[in-house]
Amino acid sequence: MGNGEKMEDKQFELIEEPELFKNARNPQGELGDELLDWMAKNHENLAKWGVSHLNVTEDDFILDIGCGGGVNVERFLKMSCAKVCGLDYSALAVKRSVQLNQKAIDEGRCEILQGSVSDLPYEDNSFDIVTAFETIYFWPDIADDLKEVSRVLDDDGIFFICNEAVPKKDDERQRELIELLDMNIYSGDELEEYLRQAGFSDVLCILKEGPDSVTGKIITWLCVIAQK
Ligand SMILES: C[S@@+](CC[C@H](N)C(=O)[O-])C[C@H]1O[C@@H](n2cnc3c(N)ncnc32)[C@H](O)[C@@H]1O
Repeated sequence: MGNGEKMEDKQFELIEEPELFKNARNPQGELGDELLDWMAKNHENLAKWGVSHLNVTEDDFILDIGCGGGVNVERFLKMSCAKVCGLDYSALAVKRSVQLNQKAIDEGRCEILQGSVSDLPYEDNSFDIVTAFETIYFWPDIADDLKEVSRVLDDDGIFFICNEAVPKKDDERQRELIELLDMNIYSGDELEEYLRQAGFSDVLCILKEGPDSVTGKIITWLCVIAQK
């Protein structure tokens, strides 16, 4: 990506920038910084749409797993949630999330940690809501990782997933993406099955298909709301 080109306009071409795009899995170095900027802008409409389905209150303790540059941590802090934690296994993502949310960290309303979803550094029943925006594709063992999410959720807690990718048969771009990023793209049905196996009860899958009202791009977005 050269000289001041606008990252946010580069949705389709990213597949031609493999070294940059690989950072979606684990942002590192200069390219990781660039991709975190790009994701902050490009995931905004998706995140806003997803969060509009989530009932968030000022009493809530929230954990955002795979928090990237911390924009969703910031979003929940602006919604006046009691405490918002962010976790990412990328040191760069943690640094960026801390920078973005420093004031709330100083006030004791926010904590950002480096760690993996597979071994969450929190006590049992710590959170009312756990969120995962654009990250479950990379989780190493979805079945066990969902059990780990359930462990840190309060007894009637909510796990929220927000993805811009659903499986598309015969989609060459998606096939290249999966190969490049070594990722798993799940359907709502697959996620529901994994969630039930991990002990979640009510599972609601919401799909948005068609042109995005803001960008006009054809999208297929999925959010999943699961109750422990
Ligand atoms: C595509 S980015 C999404 C970032 C942000 N949530 C957003 O929506 O813009 C995926 C993030 O998940 C993180 N991640 C991937 N696998 C992870 C894991 N096993 N544990 C913790 N974080 C992980 C990556 O480091 C990266 O920051």
